[in-house]
Amino acid sequence: MTVHLQKIVVRHAFPVVFTRNLFSPRNPALRDALCRDDSGRRHRCLVLLDKGVRAAFPELPRQICAFFDAHAAVFHLVRAPLALAGGEGIKQSTGPVRRMIAALRAANICRHSLCIAVGGGAFLDAAGLAAALFHRGVRLVRVPTTALAQCDSGVGVKNAINYAGAKNLLGTFAPPYAVLNDAAFLDSLPLPLLLDGIAEAVKVAAIKDAAFFRAIERAAPKIRKRDLPTIRRVLNRCALLHLDHIATSGDPYELGTARPLDYGHWAAHKLELLSKHRLSHGRAVAVGIALDALYAACLGLLPESQALRLVETLRTCGLPVHAPELAKTDRRGRLEILAGLEEFRAHLGGELTLTLPAPLGSRVEIHAVDEALMAGCIAALADWK
Ligand SMILES: NC(=O)c1ccc[n+]([C@@H]2O[C@H](COP(=O)([O-])OP(=O)(O)OC[C@H]3O[C@@H](n4cnc5c(N)ncnc54)[C@H](O)[C@@H]3O)[C@@H](O)[C@H]2O)c1
Ligand SMILES: [Zn+2]
Repeated sequence: MTVHLQKIVVRHAFPVVFTRNLFSPRNPALRDALCRDDSGRRHRCLVLLDKGVRAAFPELPRQICAFFDAHAAVFHLVRAPLALAGGEGIKQSTGPVRRMIAALRAANICRHSLCIAVGGGAFLDAAGLAAALFHRGVRLVRVPTTALAQCDSGVGVKNAINYAGAKNLLGTFAPPYAVLNDAAFLDSLPLPLLLDGIAEAVKVAAIKDAAFFRAIERAAPKIRKRDLPTIRRVLNRCALLHLDHIATSGDPYELGTARPLDYGHWAAHKLELLSKHRLSHGRAVAVGIALDALYAACLGLLPESQALRLVETLRTCGLPVHAPELAKTDRRGRLEILAGLEEFRAHLGGELTLTLPAPLGSRVEIHAVDEALMAGCIAALADWK
């Protein structure tokens, strides 16, 4: 037998730009981020737009067209932005992704063209899947428009839609060509949508950066009052921590079983489904990280005082730490949320691996959960309702 071990090294580099008024013809950010190859080619561009964003910014389609008119020497906007309804609904069937693929085809988008997606995390997840499938992957430019998408999902390397009742079952790993975070999109966001991003910031701070956690803790009263400069600072630091993790963890495509950025997410994903998406991803994450912090304290991994600070920080920001769905039981009287553990294990493959803060700013992994102890933590959270 002969075995030839072939190694393939693929490097990715993509700019993540923090700017304001991205589509102003005078703002060079988009042009600079997209005209990186020296081919001198005029790039064909298709813009996919979240209808929720269009509703909040009715002038946006016109501004986008004006931007591309002003830069017609380097970009060819192949049609007016294609608007589709965003939010979790876009991930619930394959229809919207197929619609996007049809638009990519009709626009003759090739692997040197640009697919520019403007929207919330759910919209970007669906657009990312369409772009990754089309021609085995065309260049995807993300313009995240929610807090959560700007600080987490939009800067990462994953996309997915839900399938057969399971969250994110169909998707790919595909680094974007560029990410452009426009602070102006946050101006119109209602507080709950801003807080969704804050939940992910508390998550990443708790397992990676104690100083950042203390900064959020101090800022919590201002966050609750919707102090936008404070919120933007927290979201930007959160985005950089996510990027740093993806770049340096040694496992950007999550081939191992540990997934630290999914701290609290076994419960969060199950809560989203049990609540039929009444709970947003960010609010479900807040509950999930509060629950797992209490569990870590019960195991003696996290000082109890730190678990309580985490719960209080979430609450002071205005995030929930409990949801009625936590108490739902199945026919045999078992808490339905606990099925989320097995679903999480199946999604990751291999053995169950949960990341817990221990102590704040660092993390440990555990591979088994004592269901009675977890049920006790769920009961304890009910006291903070
Ligand atoms: N790919 C990843 O790595 C990753 C990571 C975390 C979360 N996610 C996914 O992200 C999704 C959640 O994304 P989200 O929190 O951004 O919410 P969302 O995309 O569901 O958007 C919420 C609502 O806000 C609207 N909206 C978007 N931008 C707006 C703006 N600027 N002003 C007013 N309304 C606006 C949308 O149309 C939608 O109705 C979930 O499906 C989650 O699974 C993916
Ligand atoms: Zn998340």
